[in-house]
Amino acid sequence: MGSPGWFDFRALILREYQFSFLRRDRVRFSRFLLALVAIAATVLVGAQVWSQQPVTISFLLRAVEADQMQGLAEQFMAENPDIRIEMVRGPNAADAVENLYTTSFLLGDSPYDILFSDVVWIPKFAAAGWLLDLSDRVSEADLADFLPADVAAGLYQDGLYRMPFRSDMGMLYYRTDLLDQVGLAPPKTFDDLITAAETIQAQTDVDWGFTWQGLQYEGLVTNFVEIIAGYGGFWIDPTTLEVGLDQPAGVQAVEFMKGLIDQRISPPGVTNYTEEDSLRQFQNGNVAFLRNWPYAWAEANRDGTPVAGKIALKPMVHAPGQQPAACLGGWGFGISATTPHPEEAWRVVEFFTSPGPLKDFITEFAYVPSRRALFTDPDVLAAFPHYAQLLEVAETAVPRPPVGQYAQVSDILQRYLSAAISDQMTAEEAMRAAAGESRRVLGVEG
Ligand code: GLC
Repeated sequence: MGSPGWFDFRALILREYQFSFLRRDRVRFSRFLLALVAIAATVLVGAQVWSQQPVTISFLLRAVEADQMQGLAEQFMAENPDIRIEMVRGPNAADAVENLYTTSFLLGDSPYDILFSDVVWIPKFAAAGWLLDLSDRVSEADLADFLPADVAAGLYQDGLYRMPFRSDMGMLYYRTDLLDQVGLAPPKTFDDLITAAETIQAQTDVDWGFTWQGLQYEGLVTNFVEIIAGYGGFWIDPTTLEVGLDQPAGVQAVEFMKGLIDQRISPPGVTNYTEEDSLRQFQNGNVAFLRNWPYAWAEANRDGTPVAGKIALKPMVHAPGQQPAACLGGWGFGISATTPHPEEAWRVVEFFTSPGPLKDFITEFAYVPSRRALFTDPDVLAAFPHYAQLLEVAETAVPRPPVGQYAQVSDILQRYLSAAISDQMTAEEAMRAAAGESRRVLGVEG
């Protein structure tokens, strides 16, 4: 407590201040009030502007695809000013993108509102609880328009966790001019391919017979799936979890791949090739045959490309008495369970997967739609007459096993395939080891 003198002094100052304020500073006081009002108004307007800021919906995807999908994203943002789409450019290898998503989901609170998902990721992501169940958002009738295998890839237990966008299937591309030059028909069997490649390499100035995807990554697995099926074998039976890698067809498939390199039909560098590398060689006119996805058609036929107009595509080669096999690929959209904006994320997904935008996208880039009606759409057929046949290939494509441990079994297969084709192991050793490790991961007896 202070002394009474102190209180008197304070009262005096206060009185003086009030007096001088009333006497001399009325103008200053009104300025002060005005300033207060102005500040309050700025805060209010600012808050309103802030609340009208677009919500950002973000997802990660392979850089090559981000470039291609930019046009659709721009269109969506122009039509939906309250949402901004942010496409984060990832590596071009599919499983490298999966690793980045996995890390971000494991850390919790993923920065991605949407999972742009390969056809093989859903059992793992859905089982981990990282995705929203979309089944209430889409009608049975609309789902029926999509390829059944693409829809199946999004199902986990009773939920739907991925809306299909585009499908994919491995195809064999060839140079029609070179086959004409040597007088051979397009190959049907593995042996036909080897003969045609060697003949072209011997009789024309084209250096290489066949390029494909031999880098240690998911693409190598998709090539192998086609070859093992072409020998009548299988990788993993999803219903029994039986592993078929060490059966004769598995070993034959690896021997075929190794043989392509040993016989110099494929360049030694093929063990480092992704889709883009193998396509580049073909596009430059350096190679007679290419295994790739349908998008390579538009790329190789681009104006100014040396092979434009000189190429055709057909189902993959196979062993005599067996059927050609195309590995099922493709991409779609899931929604992160932790996104603060599920409604906006769904509007983005709905837009990308609806018939109009999807049609624009596939006709520009020769991607394969997940919607069946687009295969026979007159505009699509005018651009790509071969799509009428692709529907059948799409409906019989070979899926990779939809198991929760997919990332692990794919990694095992990648490692041993890579070791075999780069001459560190025999085909038989590699497949025996890969089969053993896969059985352990799947928890089945050897
Ligand atoms: C393509 C396919 C995808 C596959 C990948 C492998 O993008 O659509 O399913 O996993 O190639 O490289």
